[in-house]
Amino acid sequence: MKAAIISDIHSNLEALQAVIKDIKKKRIKKIFCLGDIVGYGANPNECVELCTKEADIIIAGNHDWATIDKTDYKKFNPIAAEAIRWTRNNINQHNFKQLQNLKLTRSTQELCFVHSTPGNPEKWNYLFTLKDFQNQFPNFQEQICFIGHSHVPSAVFQDANGYTDFLRDNPFPIIKNRRYIVNVGSVGQPRDLDPRASYAIYDGNRKYIEIVRLDYNILLAQRKILDSGLPEFLADRLMVGK
Ligand SMILES: [Fe+2]
Repeated sequence: MKAAIISDIHSNLEALQAVIKDIKKKRIKKIFCLGDIVGYGANPNECVELCTKEADIIIAGNHDWATIDKTDYKKFNPIAAEAIRWTRNNINQHNFKQLQNLKLTRSTQELCFVHSTPGNPEKWNYLFTLKDFQNQFPNFQEQICFIGHSHVPSAVFQDANGYTDFLRDNPFPIIKNRRYIVNVGSVGQPRDLDPRASYAIYDGNRKYIEIVRLDYNILLAQRKILDSGLPEFLADRLMVGK
């Protein structure tokens, strides 16, 4: 199986369209979406509709659950909370219901999908350090767990003897008896100082994973945010990727 894994679209239609176009150009038939379809950007409805149409599996992110009141958005920072209030006021009933259908985790035989962490996903914890990643390996059974949430693409492996480290190659091979946690980065609001949209390709036949970065029309996404009355900071950060 060859698949694209996308996450953290955050209502950025321009980034999502660029990513889907690239996936189709590469003739990848399966798309798995790790959540945070909405929040921050100006096109929540269009992004829910496009994800629902194109993705084979979609799971919930904290901004999706905050929009439908399953997670308390008052714990969000003030700008994120304002974007949730804006999203609630602008999402239509049909798309609201689509978000209500999303579960926290899904898996195939060899792959696990979760927005934040495989252990206690409803707590929305972040994985940044090697120790953070290491602690999560006992919490899933599959060989590979794909995550999002931090908006920072990264990959960590663990060998059968427990040795764990970050992977620095891209693409990197999938090796037998080695397990992986892969953060696919963010389609619509990257935070690793690279403003290009991020997604991952998983190739189970040729046994590799690749993080792909793509240019998209940032100026248009910024213009829509400013015109919609969302906080200016949400437009500014797209250009710097942070
Ligand atoms: Fe996110």
